[in-house]
Amino acid sequence: MLLALAAVSAQSVEAPAYRSALAKRPSDLRPFLTLHNQSYANVSEWLLKDLKLNLQVDFDHQRLKASGEYRFQNVSSSPWLVLDVQDMQVLRAIDMETQRPLAFAIIENPYGSRGLPSGVHSHALVVETQGITGDLHLRLEWMTEPQSAALQWLEPSQTHDKQSPFLFSQSQAILARSWVPLQDCPSVRFAYQAEVTIPSSMEVVMSAVPVGQSQADSLHRRVLFEQKRPIPSYLLALAVGEFEYQALNDKCGVYAEPGLIKKAVWEFADLPAMIDSAEALYGPYAWGRYDVLVLPPSFPFGGMENPCVTFATPTIIAGDRSLTSLLAHELAHSWSGNLVTNHTWDDFWLNEGFTVYFEGRIMEKVYGKGYADMLTVLGWSDLQSTLNEMRDAPDDTHLHLDLGTRDPDDGLTDIAYEKGRFFLMLVEQRVGRVPFDAFLKRYFESHAFGTMSSEKFIEVLNRDLLDQNPEWDMDLEIEAWIYGEGVPQPWPLFSSQELSRVALMAQTFNRTLRVEDIQTEGFTTHHWLCLLRNLELKDSAQMAKLDKAFAITQKENAEIACLWFVHAVHCQYRLAYAAMESFLGQVGRRKFLMPIYEALAAQSPESREEGLAMYVRVRPGYHSVSRQSLDELFELEHVDEHSMMLHMPSSGAVPALIEAPRETRSPEGSNSDGSGNGTTRDGGTLRDVPPAGDDDDKKN
Ligand code: BES
Ligand code: ZN
Repeated sequence: MLLALAAVSAQSVEAPAYRSALAKRPSDLRPFLTLHNQSYANVSEWLLKDLKLNLQVDFDHQRLKASGEYRFQNVSSSPWLVLDVQDMQVLRAIDMETQRPLAFAIIENPYGSRGLPSGVHSHALVVETQGITGDLHLRLEWMTEPQSAALQWLEPSQTHDKQSPFLFSQSQAILARSWVPLQDCPSVRFAYQAEVTIPSSMEVVMSAVPVGQSQADSLHRRVLFEQKRPIPSYLLALAVGEFEYQALNDKCGVYAEPGLIKKAVWEFADLPAMIDSAEALYGPYAWGRYDVLVLPPSFPFGGMENPCVTFATPTIIAGDRSLTSLLAHELAHSWSGNLVTNHTWDDFWLNEGFTVYFEGRIMEKVYGKGYADMLTVLGWSDLQSTLNEMRDAPDDTHLHLDLGTRDPDDGLTDIAYEKGRFFLMLVEQRVGRVPFDAFLKRYFESHAFGTMSSEKFIEVLNRDLLDQNPEWDMDLEIEAWIYGEGVPQPWPLFSSQELSRVALMAQTFNRTLRVEDIQTEGFTTHHWLCLLRNLELKDSAQMAKLDKAFAITQKENAEIACLWFVHAVHCQYRLAYAAMESFLGQVGRRKFLMPIYEALAAQSPESREEGLAMYVRVRPGYHSVSRQSLDELFELEHVDEHSMMLHMPSSGAVPALIEAPRETRSPEGSNSDGSGNGTTRDGGTLRDVPPAGDDDDKKN
């Protein structure tokens, strides 16, 4: 596409030809647009450098009314600027130099607004820039649709405190374009400022530093943000809600809803030590403040490394600080990812693999080697399961991917995370920690605020590290790790005494079926996770036995609960179904939803129907990211939101929630499966969570 557009701009098309196409038949421009790295943007012609946003947050209509002043560097003169857009109405384009309106059109994705299954869903915004010889200072005005894919607009009932609505964004990987027209690819970096108008009683954060505020009118205030350091579009972030702030020290702190702030602050107490450790390893933190915002439970990820303010799932508030490696992970991204960014989503492993490696190093410094070893062993077992599941898609087990027009979401697997981490661990073990750490420190410093591809990384690795000693790269199989399938030998060495002991116990139980063979004294979350992964449970009687001994169904830790529920589906342990359904209605984190629904879907045709009914009931409360994966699982991907009822197989009584998207309460006691142990189930959904008991927020 870039070549095609360049050719067009240089000679072939007469200005009037495309001008009239722009005005009359924008679809005539389609041949000139190609998706390149999941983006339509003509980045070799115009390059975004700076963006000034104005956002008005309208909870009543669930829309952002927005404008942006963009400064594009003129790289090679072109009669068009092409940006990525989705789920919005673009109202105006103005050349700021002349104050004249510019012609523009949105060219629909040839596959429609929902795109291909697992394809890219966005459109191209073409703005006429004919005659602009210098840099472009452009003003755009737009309005997001209520269903904008990045944004989730929550009713008060979907929040922890249930007092007021909440809005948050999730831009990674390519959803920023659904709330801001952008060159939405990770190789483009820009600085930004924003002025955000919100209801006076609410708070707002962005992936930036707040630098001031003013009264907008009697009911609204304006908050100003500044991100001076250039970021890629996927790190653009916004959250608005009733939350408060508590500092942990002078550089970091926690935002959470008032009812959760105390627990969050307690849970995150080790954050200052993590920051110190990270800086000691790989150099100064580059982004000023480091804060964490605890989001409502529908946040589809565990964490998101938005600069200055990590967004986090409330499911990490386990009550025992056992899931804080997630904070170490998001913090580590402040170097790997946010400073040195994957050039395209094909090299996502350069973000995540480095981050998991770095996370492990922070955890080792703060909690000791034994703790970090447990995480490593669990990571290896994740990787083995993933490889096993991906037997039919061996190309997707390469570190470097070839996504083409596929959604980068397809690359979000443990390959990037764990295969990436184990590759770096292998290099570390080969060269030794001291030279490896020195290399990484230089790597972050010399490529800061730039991008990295696999190809370039291999070059840098050789030049900057391996060339120092001819023995270091002997059978390191770098090419096989990065461009090949599976996990080549030799493997890095690691073990955890603690988890070996637990795995042994599990194997003994698998043979003897005696609960006495499982000694859980001193068990932490990670021991439980190891145990549950190693148990080969065959029937519900075995599960009942374990449950009687250890009350696992009652456990509030979401990581443990998720594994237990998957066993429950495989063993048809119906006694856990009420808790499971309530979990599915209270947690929107995709990592927990997928294995449970997948197990339900695979178990039997009846089980699949049951899973689908559960899903349909709570679907309106999930973020679009989770919905997209689950729609695919249940083969609902071409379903139009508004006519979903028509497409539902054997439409049960369940989908009422979908018809009434603004409804605040679901039908009472809509227990459709008739199963369970007779306990009243709440029928809670992410849209309608039952009143929180004192301790029931641990899983949320
Ligand atoms: N940046 C990712 C989340 C992400 C990746 C969102 C790709 C969208 C597209 C984040 O840092 C992450 O890896 N989160 C993990 C946490 C973890 C591995 C500790 C998650 O959400 O589970
Ligand atoms: Zn990550």
